[in-house]
Amino acid sequence: ATAPARAGGALTFTPVAPNTRDDVTVPDGYGWDVVLRWGDPVLPGAPEFDFEHQTAEAQRQQFGYNCDYVMLFPLGPDRGLLTVNHEYTNEELMFHGWQGGASATEEQIRISMAAHGMSVVEVERVGHTGRWRPAQRRHRNRRIHTHTPMLLTGPAAGSDLLKTKADPNGRWVLGMLNNCSGGRTPWGTVLTCEENFHQYFVGGDGAPEPAKPGLQRYGIPTDRRIPSSGYRGWERVDERFDLAKHPNEANRFGYVVEIDPYDPDFVPRKRTHLGRFKHEAANTTLSADRRVVVYLGDDERFEYIYKFVSRHRYLPGDSRKAREHNLRLLDEGTLYVARFTGDGTADGQYDGTGEWIPLVSGNVSHVPGMTAEEVLVFTRLAADKVGATKMDRPEDIERNPVTGEVYAALTNNTRRTPGQVDEANPRPANKHGHVLAIREAGDDAAAERFTWHIPLVCGDPNDPSTYFAGYDKSKVSPISCPDNLTFDAAGNLWIATDGNALGSNDGLFAMPVRGPERGHVKQFLTVPHGAETCGPLITADQRTCFVAVQHPGEVDGASADNPASTWPDRRGFPRPSVICVWRTGPGSPRIGA
Ligand code: FEO
Ligand code: CA
Ligand code: CA
Ligand code: CA
Repeated sequence: ATAPARAGGALTFTPVAPNTRDDVTVPDGYGWDVVLRWGDPVLPGAPEFDFEHQTAEAQRQQFGYNCDYVMLFPLGPDRGLLTVNHEYTNEELMFHGWQGGASATEEQIRISMAAHGMSVVEVERVGHTGRWRPAQRRHRNRRIHTHTPMLLTGPAAGSDLLKTKADPNGRWVLGMLNNCSGGRTPWGTVLTCEENFHQYFVGGDGAPEPAKPGLQRYGIPTDRRIPSSGYRGWERVDERFDLAKHPNEANRFGYVVEIDPYDPDFVPRKRTHLGRFKHEAANTTLSADRRVVVYLGDDERFEYIYKFVSRHRYLPGDSRKAREHNLRLLDEGTLYVARFTGDGTADGQYDGTGEWIPLVSGNVSHVPGMTAEEVLVFTRLAADKVGATKMDRPEDIERNPVTGEVYAALTNNTRRTPGQVDEANPRPANKHGHVLAIREAGDDAAAERFTWHIPLVCGDPNDPSTYFAGYDKSKVSPISCPDNLTFDAAGNLWIATDGNALGSNDGLFAMPVRGPERGHVKQFLTVPHGAETCGPLITADQRTCFVAVQHPGEVDGASADNPASTWPDRRGFPRPSVICVWRTGPGSPRIGA
């Protein structure tokens, strides 16, 4: 059952033009402000940021680097807890004279470790506007980083594959790595997704032979020593990042992590039943019978789209019983992987049917030759065996709350050859990516069959390979490399981009998905030079759009000594920051209107 269409969904803002400014640009009639920057105090008593004298102790109390997923958990209409992922670090922009992990100081390495993870920050509305700022009160605030203890849960917890010298029971891990995007659950927790965890490990060449195929499938070389200098050098201060010494440590990363932002003492839980891969995001919805469904993308070229369906139903309400019940929902269910079948291009559409292939239900594997634990820890190897469809880098996947369709961003794949093209990944050397829409059978998110179509093939609208849902291409904004998705209350699709291959800065775009304006992509904002657009989040009251401006100034050859961006402070170095955007002009206070 999906909500009826809501009136007044027209997108009336004047699009911003593509540009290469080192700044945020928003349409006329909108304002924007920085909410939280790298280094801003988060915990009570945290020191002010000092770029020239940063310490690991300060960083553990301050806002981390490279903000990504953003969600607002309300504490009333004018206050809330903002949860923000800190995906990774740009040491070359953080430290003067950075030459790689081999020559880094141990303090620099510890700063990088502390700048990963998540921040939970209480924020408050400014006046009666759509503008927000950090609250003075910080007692609910939290920093989660590379050494925060967390629990492994679900069917793979306790597996021999997850045991290490420090954790002989295979149930506890220190930290989460490369948390990219995420999702929220109906019971008010945040899901945060470990993506490119491979890049923190060295020593795969020294791992035992039986462990090597599993490491290789996740991009960890086993035929040569990765030099510390090429990476972050983390194994120099914490030897578990050396797989020659601790070969199972990498198996303990690459999960969806659930955290209750309202409880600062909550022990984060790595939910093994959602599989182990380079998780982009984990958006939830409910099935027709109120089971929880989580859509999952594995962001690498030729990887897969997955979904998890819980065994038990969501219990609404805030009772202790409901909370305890709901906090177990992600530990029992079925993990599926998607196969897409085209119906041919003679109909002028990229479309077809598909099925969700079950991989594992609790302790029962559906994959011949693999145990349930193996399926959950080496999920990519399992999906390889069942004929799933290799996609063009699956990023955010989210159900439209108005239409019920599920939208998937496929960001790009320049390595797809003409011989590897299929109808769901229809363009060879796919530089600009596309968006695919799934309609579950019977509109039930738990269905095992679906239909699909491609409403948007990105790029310069003058490029004949692009497609804007049949809309007049002379009137649309160029768009490249769709990454994170969200929806407004009218069901319009909002698309953040990462890696714009058209030569201008990344940004945020909006597109109606039905009616006469369907396919009319308009650019809502642009981000500074070298930055990627993350988040994005349109608040439930439709009055604020939060955006994470990630890695400003990440440009080939740029460094702390030769910065390519000084946004937002103009003090000689960039600071990844979460911004808010709101309406200032006359008329509707609604974002997009
Ligand atoms: Fe961290 Fe797939 O972007
Ligand atoms: Ca077709
Ligand atoms: Ca991306
Ligand atoms: Ca992303």
